[in-house]
Amino acid sequence: MPQPIIRLADVRLSLESRAGVVEILKGITLDIARGQSVAIVGPSGSGKTSLLMILAGLEKATAGDVHVVDRDFNALDEDSLALARGEDVGIVFQSFHLIPTMTALENVALPLEFAGVTGARERASSLLDDVGLGARVDHFPAQLSGGEQQRVALARALAPRPKLLLADEPTGNLDGKTGRAVVDLLFGLKRKSGATLVLITHDERLAKECERTIRMADGRIVSDEQAVVAA
Ligand SMILES: Nc1ncnc2c1ncn2[C@@H]1O[C@H](COP(=O)(O)OP(=O)(O)OP(=O)(O)O)[C@@H](O)[C@H]1O
Ligand SMILES: [Mg+2]
Repeated sequence: MPQPIIRLADVRLSLESRAGVVEILKGITLDIARGQSVAIVGPSGSGKTSLLMILAGLEKATAGDVHVVDRDFNALDEDSLALARGEDVGIVFQSFHLIPTMTALENVALPLEFAGVTGARERASSLLDDVGLGARVDHFPAQLSGGEQQRVALARALAPRPKLLLADEPTGNLDGKTGRAVVDLLFGLKRKSGATLVLITHDERLAKECERTIRMADGRIVSDEQAVVAA
């Protein structure tokens, strides 16, 4: 049996707030197999984004074991975590987080250039082609629609060929039709790359398109179901 790409054991997250210590994640134990598509659903405030931040190494668990892409995240310092993220994890957020002073091409090429990849611009250009933006490479984010900006963000997340793709409400700021197009792209790119996908969504229909749905409430996993996937 290959090692799961994600292995969490009794993960807890507590944060200080003005009202005292808030327990945000209350013992998450979870394995995710390589190549799986997993939806995370649950009410607002249930801890979905917090869990994703831990998987991305952007937040440190207060307690518990966090193994992601063969690394023990608890044993890594900030620099090593950033390196791990750059190599193996692609992240797409609800708001697109593009750099406004850079063109679409530069936004996608940037993480590749950081990683010292040769031919960064060529790869960025071909990815923008893949998401249907071949003609818009020299446009700045402000010159692109929301859906187009999210497609740039998708291309950027996939540029380093991550083994793990994390998406937090990637269609939350888009209208239904545009959101659908972005989702189709996301699943298409996932299939093509063989990456593992963890997708936070409020959309139950979208969750059903994943092979597995994990439901959270109040900082805990309350159900975990494998979908009966139509072939
Ligand atoms: N930095 C912080 N300090 C204190 N509490 C926080 C902090 N960040 C998040 N929380 C709290 O943790 C809980 C979980 O938040 P989280 O953002 O993970 O929820 P979510 O499931 O992603 O919700 P949504 O669907 O609204 O995005 C919430 O009650 C939130 O207020
Ligand atoms: Mg959230």
